[in-house]
Amino acid sequence: MRVLVTGGAGFVGSHLCDALLAENHQVVCVDNLLTGSLRNIAHLKNEPRFEFVQQDVNQPYDVGPVDYVFHFASPASPVDYMEHGIETLKVGSLGSFHSLDLAKKYGAKYMLASTSECYGDPLEHPQKETYWGNVNTIGPRSVYDESKRFAEAATMAYRRYHKVDTRILRIFNTYGPRLQLNDGRVISNFMKQALRGEPLTVYGDGKQTRSFCYVSDEVEGILRLSRSDIHDPVNIGNPVEFTILECAHLVLKVTASRSPITYEPLPQDDPKQRRPDISKARELLGWEPKINLETGLKLSMEYFQQAIEIQDAAKAGRQQTVAV
Ligand SMILES: NC(=O)c1ccc[n+]([C@@H]2O[C@H](COP(=O)([O-])OP(=O)(O)OC[C@H]3O[C@@H](n4cnc5c(N)ncnc54)[C@H](O)[C@@H]3O)[C@@H](O)[C@H]2O)c1
Repeated sequence: MRVLVTGGAGFVGSHLCDALLAENHQVVCVDNLLTGSLRNIAHLKNEPRFEFVQQDVNQPYDVGPVDYVFHFASPASPVDYMEHGIETLKVGSLGSFHSLDLAKKYGAKYMLASTSECYGDPLEHPQKETYWGNVNTIGPRSVYDESKRFAEAATMAYRRYHKVDTRILRIFNTYGPRLQLNDGRVISNFMKQALRGEPLTVYGDGKQTRSFCYVSDEVEGILRLSRSDIHDPVNIGNPVEFTILECAHLVLKVTASRSPITYEPLPQDDPKQRRPDISKARELLGWEPKINLETGLKLSMEYFQQAIEIQDAAKAGRQQTVAV
């Protein structure tokens, strides 16, 4: 197949490109590098089945005939989507329309990367796909949450009105190599702080919970859903729940760090708990995550160490330039 991955230079998108290439597909990655990086796809530079197109998907574009469209472009971390609020709303609306139009034009199958954020600060726990969510439509996170909820609606509309063969994936907190160092998400924050010997910042009392899915598990779930005929949303995430404080202690253990833990006020609309109910993925896709948090953190450590070195070298370079 010739496959389009929007957002393919991002964290999850680049791992998806790798997995699709490993299955012998041709991959066209369209990305404007807003939050992604060429570093994530540098290893594919000489891969003849891989093509990178630098393009804003909020503008109309056409990459020629494709058999599958994976729409993964979107700022995804709170730091990114709060900085790029309007772009985030646009990529869920305009960007979704453009990618759906391509799928319609070429008769391609379609997958939307949606999110657990569709459930907002959930009143139901764990979250099943049938739960409609509890989202503040005007809060600071709404640019992301509502953008994805709109994208889901657009996807279903193209299915109903234009008969596009669609799938909706609800990703829960995913981590691993290539996760941006400065994205403000729990794992990258803690790993960076622990490896630098800085205090680990816990927001609130640290009793709020999260579940973390290692990226190879997530990608396996994505591939299985892509081959399925399930058209309603499917949660793909790890259901094992940790308090933020437990996670901090695990990071300290894995990195052998002696960093202390400090506490800061909870940001507005920060969900108190988040855990996927993955019965649907288990039953219909035969999928469940295999990598536990401790193993996943170990597998990610080398990447985070390198990312810190690159960041420090860049900072030192900038300081030198300023001094000159
Ligand atoms: N990582 C997670 O835990 C998680 C959780 C839920 C949902 N998701 C979803 O998965 C997808 C990928 O997330 P990620 O964590 O890899 O984030 P990321 O920021 O690493 O990747 C997103 C990519 O989209 C690109 N992009 C953004 N706007 C664009 C535009 N207008 N045109 C072209 N490219 C654009 C960025 O440059 C980046 O490469 C997103 O849709 C996100 O909402 C991720």
